[in-house]
Amino acid sequence: LLTARVADVQLAPANYPKTQIWGYDGQMPGTLIRVQQGDRIQRRFINELPQASTVHWHGLRIDNTMDGVAGLTQDAVPPGETFDYEFTAHDAGTFWYHAHTRSMEQVARGLYGALIVDEAEPADTDRDEILILDDWRLDPETAQLDSDFNAPHDRSHSGRLGNFVATNGSLETNLPVKPNERLRLRLINASNAKIFQLALSGFEGWIMAYDGMPLDVPEKVEGPFLLASGQRVDLFVDVTAITGEVAHLVRIDGEEGISQAAFPVGSSESSASRRNTPTPLPPNPNMSVPEVDTARRFDLKMEGGAMGGLQTAMLDGKEMSFRELAAVNQFWSFNGVVGLTDTPLAQLSSGETARVSIQNDSVFPHAMHLHGMHFREVTEGGLGPMRDTLLMGGGESREIAFVADNPGKWLFHCHMLEHAAPGMTTSLSTRSILPVCSRSARIAVAPE
Ligand code: C2O
Ligand code: CU
Repeated sequence: LLTARVADVQLAPANYPKTQIWGYDGQMPGTLIRVQQGDRIQRRFINELPQASTVHWHGLRIDNTMDGVAGLTQDAVPPGETFDYEFTAHDAGTFWYHAHTRSMEQVARGLYGALIVDEAEPADTDRDEILILDDWRLDPETAQLDSDFNAPHDRSHSGRLGNFVATNGSLETNLPVKPNERLRLRLINASNAKIFQLALSGFEGWIMAYDGMPLDVPEKVEGPFLLASGQRVDLFVDVTAITGEVAHLVRIDGEEGISQAAFPVGSSESSASRRNTPTPLPPNPNMSVPEVDTARRFDLKMEGGAMGGLQTAMLDGKEMSFRELAAVNQFWSFNGVVGLTDTPLAQLSSGETARVSIQNDSVFPHAMHLHGMHFREVTEGGLGPMRDTLLMGGGESREIAFVADNPGKWLFHCHMLEHAAPGMTTSLSTRSILPVCSRSARIAVAPE
């Protein structure tokens, strides 16, 4: 069972009142779902919220009917009702689940949790820690959530940014470590819109995986790295700080470095010696490299937001000026269209490779997330690592490629949830090729 309900949790320090949140099983973060690679995940979702809801399993390459997108892959589950989710966890790695109905409100209220799929052979680390990062927007007196989830300023600028930056729902995270210990840190950005800039102190670290997909060659952490909404990173970190010191996961906000999680180093008595450079995590199945030269090409032009050049765009089949759009709290367009329509950005056949060149004609960064399939960025140096969410700076153009090997209708949207709601949402459809044994049978079953 997985029950979404209202709960009071101590988010702010103890001298503050509890905060009313919406949480899975009433918890913040929601109940950890942890399975072995290849296992079936089965959860009856029970909606005890005052709103309809659905659960999306972010980054898992699963059956389309289980993807949890209200209005695209299923109907939203009304209050008091249930939905049975069931799928196989083919990929090992760090994933998460979250509400996908009125996400900008439901995720901000706390409807998310970690979903960890363990490799058959455990990695060579001493500890495994999940760190879910989120910035809450709380009233500094009452510690209650700001309940304006549709604020036009957030929707037209950088999204709903918070004033209370937590790890696993807590302002203070202290995880005692020993000298030379190797930890696996699984970082998940569950915020509505914040781009975390992170660094390590007192650790030597390597990025082992992005968005649940292992890297062929671990990347040594040399300086700050970014984690956009929806993204994950798996790090291996070796404690280099000595007994009595404190190692940190550091968040860089402006010029300031702030501890996002502290790791006080205890006595060295039982400590081991430093390990060697880590070997890569085992690859997941089906990490095939797309054939980019023969791929079908698509363009995605992103426009809108404050200080952007968007003149007009189509909303519900009507051409509207930016001013008219703003009046109905809509601000963004993909290829001149605001929000999800019946026409997908691309219609693909199963197994086909697609290349989407994305042009960000706005001044804001965006975190483009594709459901159901991972992509690789096409760069001059070749293809990048497999990811499910791509952070793009304001004014940037980038290109991604992927093999459309998972049939269904898949959402493709900005994971800054205040951008997705007022326009930055489209879909891709992949048609499965029906197994046919004769020519006449093919004609008989040919889909449109
Ligand atoms: Cu994590 Cu469409 O979302
Ligand atoms: Cu965006």
